[in-house]
Amino acid sequence: MLTGIIQKYGEFLPISSGTPRLSLCEGSTPLVRLRRLGEETGAEIYAKIEGANPTGSFKDRGMVLAVAKALEEGTKGVVCASTGNTSASAAAYAAAAGIRCAVLLPKGKVALGKLSQALAFGAKAVCIEGNFDAALQFARQAAAELGVTLVNSVNPYRLWGQRSSAWEICDDLSDAPDWLIIPVGNAGNISAYCAGFEFYKETGRSTRLPRLIGVQAEGAAPMVRGAPVSFPETLATAIRIGNPVSADKARRAVELTNGQFMAVTDQEILDAQRKLACLEGIFAEPASCATAAAFLKLAGLGKMQKGSRGVLVLTGNGLKDPEAPMHYLPEPVCVPGSWDAIREVLSR
Ligand code: F0G
Repeated sequence: MLTGIIQKYGEFLPISSGTPRLSLCEGSTPLVRLRRLGEETGAEIYAKIEGANPTGSFKDRGMVLAVAKALEEGTKGVVCASTGNTSASAAAYAAAAGIRCAVLLPKGKVALGKLSQALAFGAKAVCIEGNFDAALQFARQAAAELGVTLVNSVNPYRLWGQRSSAWEICDDLSDAPDWLIIPVGNAGNISAYCAGFEFYKETGRSTRLPRLIGVQAEGAAPMVRGAPVSFPETLATAIRIGNPVSADKARRAVELTNGQFMAVTDQEILDAQRKLACLEGIFAEPASCATAAAFLKLAGLGKMQKGSRGVLVLTGNGLKDPEAPMHYLPEPVCVPGSWDAIREVLSR
């Protein structure tokens, strides 16, 4: 479908006739049935492939609306703090809209693909000493003092646009699923899904709310611990966040849906990445694979109900962080350019 979120779900979004119809054809991402991962559980499992969005992550759903509304309000430019994906998305939509973009990044902790995108789209990138939580404070200050629009998820239009993924899942399955597992960093996306599912139920478009299971990396799990983490650490750099801005909304989402927060280790995340790739042909970035790790953990505890229907939200493309699999995969075999040498390797 050659439309984006504003065109597809405009009637559900806070737009007016004066809102520019910005679009990079975001949304309408595939909901793929997983047939091999966890098949022994007897659950009907789907992956929402958010890495198929234009900049390779779910951020595009909310960014298109945030930038369109900023344009409507006559903005000079946009600014954000980011662990990588928000910066790539903000830079892309700012480029498409013809406005300036600045991104504040935790130095040395942004996956290469994401940094490369932000630079390619022409953003002014500033790497700071300190983590995402510190960068967000500076982004707020930049917005206030330079008169540009903050497009982190504290911008309400971001979460509005991100609701659209929940709507697509319900549209595709003809109802909400029984459960949905989603990675949690700054805690905006899980809140947006909850609001999206609530809206569909209230308006009679679905009959239930899925149990929302929010997953964090063990070294960056403030929602699981119930308190901020001063020095968050995980190789899933997208969710390397210690003090989530939307913590209250996320807690409400989990309580309302009878869900839970849980933590998985970096090793479990990498194992899950390998399984998703080798069993299903899906390459997702580490933060996204935390969902599969959580699913496998719950399945191992016998907690995935047979016959239940659930969705893993794979928030970002594996190509964002091409170095991650190098932690556990062997180097390719290199041989001279002769058929004999190649045949010898292939027949091993
Ligand atoms: N998955 C990916 C791939 C992400 O990039 C993020 C957040 C999340 C999950 C968590 O979503 O913050 O709404 O709970 N990335 C932000 C960024 C922080 O700057 O790109 P959340």
